[in-house]
Amino acid sequence: MKILGIESSCDESAAALAEMNGQKVRILSNVVSSQVEIHKKYGGVVPEVAAREHVVNILPVINEALGIADFQHNHLRPSIDAIAITVGPGLITSLMAGVETAKVLSYAWKIPLVAINHIEGHVYANFIEVEQDDDCKTKNNDNNELYRIIQKREDLRFPAIVLTVSGGHTMLVLMEGHGKYQTIGETRDDAAGEAFDKAAKLLGVGYPGGPVIASEAEKYSGIDGKMPNIILPRPMLDSKDFDFSFSGLKTAIRYQIEKDQEYRLRIPEYCHEFQQSVIDVLIAKTIKAAIRYNVKTIMLSGGVSANKELRRQMASKVELKFPDIIFRVPELRYTTDNAAMIAVAGCYKALRGEFTEWRDLRVNCNLKL
Ligand code: KG4
Ligand code: ZN
Repeated sequence: MKILGIESSCDESAAALAEMNGQKVRILSNVVSSQVEIHKKYGGVVPEVAAREHVVNILPVINEALGIADFQHNHLRPSIDAIAITVGPGLITSLMAGVETAKVLSYAWKIPLVAINHIEGHVYANFIEVEQDDDCKTKNNDNNELYRIIQKREDLRFPAIVLTVSGGHTMLVLMEGHGKYQTIGETRDDAAGEAFDKAAKLLGVGYPGGPVIASEAEKYSGIDGKMPNIILPRPMLDSKDFDFSFSGLKTAIRYQIEKDQEYRLRIPEYCHEFQQSVIDVLIAKTIKAAIRYNVKTIMLSGGVSANKELRRQMASKVELKFPDIIFRVPELRYTTDNAAMIAVAGCYKALRGEFTEWRDLRVNCNLKL
């Protein structure tokens, strides 16, 4: 089964082709047109600008993913079995650009549609077959230890706990099987990625916040046995539930830099402490949920799961303390928004026969998992 995935929920116009053989899913093409450079100057995504960019980019991106640059001229029907399309959650006008395109293609080509929840897509980034030339290895983006863990694809067993951390969401999801989700905790205010973006803005280090904070944090060389200068809270670390709260962390940074005349000289230390604070809370709550629900697998997903320290610290915690639990993280290229994850989620949904008529396909910017 071959599925075209289309994603346009925020500021990436993306299309990808996935092929499913048995339970194995390979990615045949993965094209992402990012608008990050456009939104950078505003310090965040401007919805109206994002939607206009999607309208311009979505067809060329689909063309490229299908590998037939002139398909709109000869009206060839590509040899795919379904089109998987993100219908929400996300920015309404951005979502509409992808959804309307998918509807037209479905009608013109007579190819069925599979409606995908964007968060479900992030989860399914963990189900993509790892290729030998995985970027973790070739570009040395992850250490070898992580690469070995990432390679253990065959082993995934349910129930699983999935920590989904992105710019728009922070959730702990109990996954009892394919398509079976229960949200057991979520953020009460800012998402983890949003917290990274806001902290970066306060510190004046750039956009998007996650990657810049991570690279500044890497420059921090430790405190040589002295007391740290900067101590931030670990919000809701000891709360009895599985919820998160990150907005207080941003306020804590603001208070600290207001008092600190020389904060610009200590950016790596601020970034290091901020990142570690988020990681401590994410890991503690995920492990607590894993124990409470007696899971067999822990997975990370979403843009923040690109964070190398989060990946590394979670991997070593699980390996050391819970050797019977399988740990999975998506390859780096499938952590932030892409259409490969949408195509893969589409494969599993198509397998269950869950198609939507083009007439009935609706955007839902507040779609729940
Ligand atoms: O999943 P994603 O691409 O889009 C949403 O669905 O929101 O996630 C984007 C978020 C941004 O907030 C970005 O700052 C964060 O993921 N992010 C990171 C890293 N790379 C991206 N956060 C922490 N560390 C990173 N390396
Ligand atoms: Zn996303």
